Amino acid sequence: MSVVPVITIDGPTASGKGTITSQVAQALGWHVLDSGALYRLTALSALQKNVSLDDEAAVADVALHLDVSFGEQGAVLEGQLVADAIRAEDVGNAASKIAAYPRLREALLQRQRSFRVMPGLVADGRDMGTVVFTDAPLKIFLVADVRIRAERRYKQLMEKGISASLTSLLEDLQARDLRDTTRASAPLVAAADAVTIDSSHLSIEETVAKVLALWQRS
Ligand code: DC
Repeated sequence: MSVVPVITIDGPTASGKGTITSQVAQALGWHVLDSGALYRLTALSALQKNVSLDDEAAVADVALHLDVSFGEQGAVLEGQLVADAIRAEDVGNAASKIAAYPRLREALLQRQRSFRVMPGLVADGRDMGTVVFTDAPLKIFLVADVRIRAERRYKQLMEKGISASLTSLLEDLQARDLRDTTRASAPLVAAADAVTIDSSHLSIEETVAKVLALWQRS
């Protein structure tokens, strides 16, 4: 068991995990693990290398040899800043598809655990509390109504000047939720010892405050 504290924040796509994770980490002065970015980076790298997303062994191999670092501006893959590229909807869908592969998940396990360094880590994902950091002293399961998540994602895209359809975003989220929750390997599920927070009607500040209060009490 590691002595480095970790707070896990798991939940479905667009539940606000990324924002909550970075603000909680900032408040505590801790590191951040955006595990979804590792799945997205693997998907992007596989697409760039023309590796078939249907080939589990080849995709796992891409993950094992991923040349990636996280700088001030975000993820850097093989020397290229790909912070925006990995956020594209098609890369997200590819990531969701390959995330079902047990061999890929295994290939990313050590890389994820290596983020657990002093003074602490806030880890954002789907299986942070159930698989990667099972001994975490605080596990959060962050949920929000799928319509509200679609609207939030829509607003984010609009603000970035990216056109999108609310209906297709909603359908995409529903399809991704279904895939993430029904896959055989590490499905999206709350850990038995997780605290569920429904952020549908909470602001970012209120959600962050809830997590910090739980940490102070733990
Ligand atoms: O959180 P995100 O949308 O960036 O994640 C992209 C995909 O990666 C998502 O569809 C599910 C998958 N994922 C996963 O299976 N396990 C994680 N710990 C993080 C993400």
